[in-house]
Amino acid sequence: MERIAASIGDRSPQGIAAAIGRLIGSGDIAAGERLPTVRDLARELGVSPGTVAEAWRMLTVVGAIEARGRAGTYALRTAGPAQRYRSLASGGGAFALDLSTGIPDPALLPELGPLLRRVGGKALSGSYLDRPVLPQLEELLVASWPFAPGGFTVVDGALDALSRVADLIVGFGDRVLIENPAFPPLIDLLERQGAELIALPLDSEGIVPSALINALQLRPSTLFLQPRAHNPTGISMSEQRARELAILLQDHQVTVVEDDHCGDISMAVDVSLGRYLDNRVIHIRSFSKSHGPDLRIAAVGGPVEVVDRLVERRLLGPGWTSRMVQSLLVELLTDPDSIDVVAQARRTYAGRQRELADALASCGLLLSAGDGINQWVPVVDERLALVRAAAAGIGVAPGSPFALSGLTGAHVRVTVGLISSGAEHVAECLAAAALPARPSHAV
Ligand SMILES: Cc1ncc(COP(=O)(O)O)c(C=O)c1O
Repeated sequence: MERIAASIGDRSPQGIAAAIGRLIGSGDIAAGERLPTVRDLARELGVSPGTVAEAWRMLTVVGAIEARGRAGTYALRTAGPAQRYRSLASGGGAFALDLSTGIPDPALLPELGPLLRRVGGKALSGSYLDRPVLPQLEELLVASWPFAPGGFTVVDGALDALSRVADLIVGFGDRVLIENPAFPPLIDLLERQGAELIALPLDSEGIVPSALINALQLRPSTLFLQPRAHNPTGISMSEQRARELAILLQDHQVTVVEDDHCGDISMAVDVSLGRYLDNRVIHIRSFSKSHGPDLRIAAVGGPVEVVDRLVERRLLGPGWTSRMVQSLLVELLTDPDSIDVVAQARRTYAGRQRELADALASCGLLLSAGDGINQWVPVVDERLALVRAAAAGIGVAPGSPFALSGLTGAHVRVTVGLISSGAEHVAECLAAAALPARPSHAV
């Protein structure tokens, strides 16, 4: 107790939370160690119990401590900030077919070779303070944006965009609405930001409106959603649903962040709440799935105040996204062959989704074909499903890192977009993996 109290200088709730957080982070308070009671620590520090209780609340929200009722409050295992994201790694699995990765099929990406020659041989820039976006790229993208964005820029991928936007608009303790299931690194980064996440269920058209109505009573600050080819479920929001959600949000001060991570390989249109809500929708479009994850480029369009602050903050970091990559993207978006390759990829992914859904149906597992590259497969037992799929040479991603509380049933995420042949065999293995364990004394 004295050791803990001695390390607390600032006796505000934030100061106490930060000091205890540092002690847990450094290992000075070990994982599993019982913390002093609120009353005892308050007495030792000469503050009110409410002040310590507030610090405890902040530490609970970020997962640093856990209250176990009468048993007391305990420090939790210190995890890296990307805990959920890391748990998706297949462990370098030597699978005959690795469907755990969530990446596009390399064979369906446009060739860069011929276009690279066109973008110029030297990596030059006029000044470090030049506008960060090439005018030609901005013109192309703004013309295809689902609404007229007040501000526009490009960053190093959709996750970079999500992280930078969250840094700017999500404060510690803010209530943030998020789809359930959701993209694990987004959950990681919002939790790290100290947000209290409110999970919204999905149906076949997107976020369920009645759940949004209930959640809005809690006065959330922000809503994060994926407008199409939702990872992991493959759900795309309908135009009708976008309108409905926008009407519900109309009278609430909620900023919407849309992560269009699949871009042009999605079969659905680029639907956005930004068509209906003025100046509070930030729309992100990634080119990773359509043109290649290693390009590391995504566009961000939304309220000028947010985008300007993002650009300003980025000036004290990477500064801009490589203009060579931007030029390459201009080529990719205007070259007729590349446009055809992406359109073909879109059709191929849709075909692979249908083929797997049909094959699974023949095995008794009824799922609708998803949009994009992923399918969310219900299983009886997640661990068992992973082991069984692995035994059949197939890697799939565990569903739990995507899940927030309230999601029913176990799942695995399958990157269907990588199944170029043998869908029937994959479906048989997945259906077998999804089943309950056989009793060992079965007759
Ligand atoms: C929903 C979602 N958002 C963002 C990303 C990250 O995309 P990027 O490669 O543009 O950073 C992914 C990657 O799979 C994703 O699935």
